[in-house]
Amino acid sequence: MKLDNLEIRSIRKSDSPKAFLDFICELIDEKAYLQIDEKPTLKWEREWLKKTNKEIKNRESIRFCAWEGKKLVAMVQAKRGLWNERDNICIGISVLKAYRGKGLGEKLLRMIIKLAKTKLKPKNIFLSVVIINKPAFSLYKKVGFKTFARFPKWAKRDNKYIDVLYMLLKK
Ligand SMILES: CC(C)(COP(=O)(O)OP(=O)(O)OC[C@H]1O[C@@H](n2cnc3c(N)ncnc32)[C@H](O)[C@@H]1OP(=O)(O)O)[C@@H](O)C(=O)NCCC(=O)NCCS
Repeated sequence: MKLDNLEIRSIRKSDSPKAFLDFICELIDEKAYLQIDEKPTLKWEREWLKKTNKEIKNRESIRFCAWEGKKLVAMVQAKRGLWNERDNICIGISVLKAYRGKGLGEKLLRMIIKLAKTKLKPKNIFLSVVIINKPAFSLYKKVGFKTFARFPKWAKRDNKYIDVLYMLLKK
């Protein structure tokens, strides 16, 4: 796979909910280090897509998807907090296993940070990561995030609790 062969763009109203469902289910099957650990239904995904398009329209979030043909292979988002935390932007990213290690994650993360800075005018750009997720932690450090908080035994995985790190993008 060449990065040049992927189409990277925002979500569209016309996008297929099934493509998003397949994407998230593949990550859940792999037991990727994501917060979501239960497969959604197609109905849920349809509602999520509607809600997400509305958020983008209202400048509450931005999102890039990478497509190889009709297959969604990666997604990154930047989302505002609520009310008096609206100027804190939380980032999330996922790349399907077969597409990792080729620079796609870094490319998408840098793209979303650049756009979030101009479109969402944030005070803080932050994210969270389970402490055992070394690839993600290295990526975040590489693009300039620094750990500012550690929540002990926060995420449950295989009946064990794992520490979660919160990281802030350096100015
Ligand atoms: C984390 C993730 C987004 C990285 O995406 P990717 O496309 O593989 O990353 P890239 O190829 O752009 O690599 C960029 C940097 O990330 C880090 N990295 C990526 N894979 C790594 C690995 N297996 N081990 C250590 N560091 C790694 C490195 O710092 C790398 O820079 P380098 O190539 O100069 O060493 C991807 O592994 C993923 O989606 N994982 C599953 C979902 C997930 O964990 N999301 C994050 C939740 S917090």
